[in-house]
Amino acid sequence: MTGLPIQPVPGGESSGDPSEDAFSFGPDNTPYDALGGNEGVQRLVETFYDMMDCDDRFAGIRSLHKPDLSDATGKLYEFLSGWLGGPQLYVEKYGHPKLRGRHMPFPIGENERDLWMMCMTDAMNACEVEGEIRSFLDARFAHVANFMRNQEE
Ligand code: HEM
Repeated sequence: MTGLPIQPVPGGESSGDPSEDAFSFGPDNTPYDALGGNEGVQRLVETFYDMMDCDDRFAGIRSLHKPDLSDATGKLYEFLSGWLGGPQLYVEKYGHPKLRGRHMPFPIGENERDLWMMCMTDAMNACEVEGEIRSFLDARFAHVANFMRNQEE
């Protein structure tokens, strides 16, 4: 794996994640649309960071972030918009995400990966993300979160 795929939908680069092939998403039926477009992405990201901020179970990853979560919230929203096949807001502003490199300053091991996934799972539950888009996001988030690890266990 050489880097993060920024175009997960068919027609883009493959992520190397075999689970991707099982989904029916394409240029006329993007994960972005299935999640509810701009509003759906915004809602998911805000819920995710609200939960990380308020729930002590996530203290282990909350503490890696700045006290003010607005930058992180805005950037995850911009990133997910493009990553799901919607407007490439992040790339237009910051260039290639180089997500793994940008996470290098933060120690991410299995524990942090699992906390991130748990927080995102709770956020998806709260936003009632269901059906094919849910299976897609479960697989894709797990894949990327695992790729973010940078600690020997
Ligand atoms: C696996 C556990 C993860 C941890 C512990 C983690 C932690 C962090 C931290 C501490 C920041 C800096 C935020 C700030 O400015 O205060 C950050 C930024 C970011 N994270 Fe994560 N992250 C994880 C996984 C992910 C995943 C799976 C994604 C995408 C699906 C993601 C997307 C981003 C983005 C887009 C940024 C902004 C990067 C930038 O431009 O600076 N992260 N993350």
